[in-house]
Amino acid sequence: MMKILSVVGARPNFMKVAPLHRAFLKRGIDSRIVHTGQHYDAKMSEVFFEQLGLPQPDHYLGVGGGTHTQQTARIMLKFEEVLSRENPDLVLVVGDVNSTLACALVAVKMHYPVAHVEAGLRSGDPSMPEEINRILTDRISDYLFVTEYSGLVHLAEEGVARDKTFFTGNVMIDSLVHFREKVSKTSVLQDLSLLPSDYVLMTMHRPSNVDREEGLRDILEIMRRIGVHKRLVFPMHPRTRNNFERFGLMAALRQMEQLLIIQPVGYLEFLQLMQQAFAVLTDSGGIQEETTFLGVPCFTFRNSTERPVTVDLGTNVLLSDLSPDSVEKAFSRLLAGEVKAGVVPPLWDGHAAERIADILLEQPVLST
Ligand code: UD1
Ligand code: UDP
Repeated sequence: MMKILSVVGARPNFMKVAPLHRAFLKRGIDSRIVHTGQHYDAKMSEVFFEQLGLPQPDHYLGVGGGTHTQQTARIMLKFEEVLSRENPDLVLVVGDVNSTLACALVAVKMHYPVAHVEAGLRSGDPSMPEEINRILTDRISDYLFVTEYSGLVHLAEEGVARDKTFFTGNVMIDSLVHFREKVSKTSVLQDLSLLPSDYVLMTMHRPSNVDREEGLRDILEIMRRIGVHKRLVFPMHPRTRNNFERFGLMAALRQMEQLLIIQPVGYLEFLQLMQQAFAVLTDSGGIQEETTFLGVPCFTFRNSTERPVTVDLGTNVLLSDLSPDSVEKAFSRLLAGEVKAGVVPPLWDGHAAERIADILLEQPVLST
């Protein structure tokens, strides 16, 4: 029986591993899960296990926060012990967080084959910690599963052998498709006294936006201006909350009547908030994809994206000029009915994890 050890660590990992775990079990694969504990608050971690039907992880490494080096090194030390004990046929990592690179690196050093799901994405911005994680993880992985065409192009340009890369679609969208019916039954709109299309949903957590006081002040001003037209719902990421507090800006936030600041919400509630929103403002990676799938207008507060298909085919608009004036202009166009039409990208159909599981089962090196 093939044994696969899948790694989760941070919020965007759980909804990617859940459909893979289901597809592995369905095919008789011994599927085990390691949680590094990079994210550890109940609202950033536990809630996803409950809602996504993931079993308790087989191993919890409890690494928590710290500098990139501290976090990466702690994960590596602890994952090495787990890997020696588990001795799987394959280590599977998803996305681009520190847990992704740390575990992939340990695995190759110990001569275990590595699969990277969501390979080939590139923002072209080396100052993003995730870009380093993406490039290095892809460089050392044996099986590279790609969500969009740009990924295939990048991997080919970087000299990755063609027979290691597979265009299989988007496992994050698998989760969305799987849970969509349940999503509509959540009472989050009533609980927050919101009406469909009457609010803008906002998330921010990229260091380039939230680690500087100036960036946070711009975000405040942008919210003030959008708040003239629509209510704003802001489930605040812990990094962002810490920084608003550190720079003494929480009081200013709380003064905004149109703004509803809430804790990070569960997956089902977040999908419901997203699909009923007038628009989404974000700097998240995954949310650019989910809004494209749902056909909801999305403004991304970044000057580049590693997910260009969301701009080329989807509803995503990059706001490279984050000055309040320019964001206000873009928002006014949306208010005036200038909505960017979009289509769902190829293979974002709810079956990516099944394709990945089938490909892995076909690999003679893994199944002997
Ligand atoms: C991480 C990922 C980022 C991803 C994001 C998703 C890296 C380099 N960054 O960023 O790619 O988009 O997760 O949300 O891997 N904290 C808590 N509670 C938690 C988790 C974090 O309070 O449950 C606080 C801690 O102070 C921690 C800080 O947030 O030090 C940053 O957490 P960390 O995991 O290092 O990075 P994120 O900004 O969350
Ligand atoms: N998400 C959630 N609750 C929230 C905010 C986001 O469940 O309060 C989900 C969102 O639907 C998506 C994932 O978390 O599936 C994205 O994670 P995040 O934005 O933290 O990370 P990124 O994709 O930027 O790496």
